[in-house]
Amino acid sequence: MTENPPPPSGKKRLFLRSWGCQMNVYDSARMADVLAPLGYAPVDAPEGADMIILNTCHIREKATEKLFSELGRLRQLKQAREAEGGEMVLAVAGCVAQAEGAEITARAPYVDIVLGPQSYHKLPEMVARAARTGRAVVETDFPVEEKFDFLPEVSAPQGITAFLTIQEGCDKFCSFCVVPYTRGAEYSRPVAAVLAEARKLVGQGAREITLLGQNVNAYHGAAEEGGEWGLAQLLRALAEIPGLDRLRYTTSHPRDMDEALIAAHRDIPAVMPFLHLPVQSGSDRVLAAMNRGHTAKEYLALVDRLRAARPDLALSTDIIVGHPGETEADHEATMALIRRVKFAQAFSFKYSPRPGTPAAGAPHRVDEATKDRRLQEVQALLRDQQAEFNASLTGRTVPVLFTGPGRQAGQLSGRTPWLQPVHVPGSLSLIGATAPVFIRAGNPNSLAGELAQQEKTAA
Ligand code: 5AD
Ligand code: SF4
Repeated sequence: MTENPPPPSGKKRLFLRSWGCQMNVYDSARMADVLAPLGYAPVDAPEGADMIILNTCHIREKATEKLFSELGRLRQLKQAREAEGGEMVLAVAGCVAQAEGAEITARAPYVDIVLGPQSYHKLPEMVARAARTGRAVVETDFPVEEKFDFLPEVSAPQGITAFLTIQEGCDKFCSFCVVPYTRGAEYSRPVAAVLAEARKLVGQGAREITLLGQNVNAYHGAAEEGGEWGLAQLLRALAEIPGLDRLRYTTSHPRDMDEALIAAHRDIPAVMPFLHLPVQSGSDRVLAAMNRGHTAKEYLALVDRLRAARPDLALSTDIIVGHPGETEADHEATMALIRRVKFAQAFSFKYSPRPGTPAAGAPHRVDEATKDRRLQEVQALLRDQQAEFNASLTGRTVPVLFTGPGRQAGQLSGRTPWLQPVHVPGSLSLIGATAPVFIRAGNPNSLAGELAQQEKTAA
């Protein structure tokens, strides 16, 4: 068991555990920010913590059961702490908190706080209320005020690569997905707030920013001069920030990939040639059942337009196998789409029902063995494509942003424009810089290279 070092004098220990998407990682950092004025400082282990926050993800399979078994373990730590005369505030945040609400404190009465993703700015008040009343506090409304207006400014530096949430929520209601129920309706942060946070991150050393949102390319933030900006316009303004070398955004919906955004990939050098564009299935029948609002042909046409605008664009995707009603022919259509696109990277999942979503009650469930087999087929194909893409970089010289020291002494770790990790011998003084690297080996999950002469740069 890891023992925590004592906190800086007068500080209380805050242990934050985050599951799921990058937005949860971002939200966890913001919860640490909001608790800092109360004297909480983050620690690396739950033992001896004064407060524990579990930031949960509902996309995970059996997320609720896993939460309760984790809570069971933490209950022992809490009891041990109380036996020593100490206290431990136990909070559950994130999408499972939003979905389960008071059910959590009913099943686990030792939980002090349950709060949904729109309530993080209220944490200090909730901590005080729980201490004052000695009763659990549950906050899972979608408040009218926007949480971003009430959160303090980003405080802790994130490093060379940083995340910035610009949009939350989703109105698309895909048949299988809980996000519209847990994160609520679509909301875009105002342009000025996004630009200010980006400048701050760059001031703290960030050279690459990934814009986050469940439907990030549906971004429509209020502009100071009136009206709204789309994502393309926002990217153009961000690209003007001195010192900000690279921009990415995730996750996008094919339906919101408009002409202006495609043009941004063509015109803005800082926008990296890598796009995560979930397709979920290659079958029109399944896509319709999923309520995705596009066909396989439309997705493929979009990919063609993106590649025409930015020929070196690499694509990543999400695939679900075994959605209710998926036949062998549907599965073959998914395999065919993958073969046609050639993805550089992908995430694939077996369909699993999320309570309250339309697909959870749909007929014609696919049995587990069939789902397992289809997932294996999809993953084998995607693995081959990723290995092929990485191998295709061997012998090329590409710009690498150095993000930190490598695992071995004298080694740097960085990433290519296409998001692959690269290990390169070199001086730590290069961290934060982008330099041309000759790729010696393209391995399935990472690349190995060496610093190249400037004139050798190809990309
Ligand atoms: N079952 C399986 N996969 C799912 N995803 C979302 N909900 C489910 C579900 N019920 C996958 C989708 C989504 C990704 C984040 O998680 O592919 O794009
Ligand atoms: Fe979920 Fe994405 Fe569909 Fe929205 S668009 S419902 S977040 S899968």
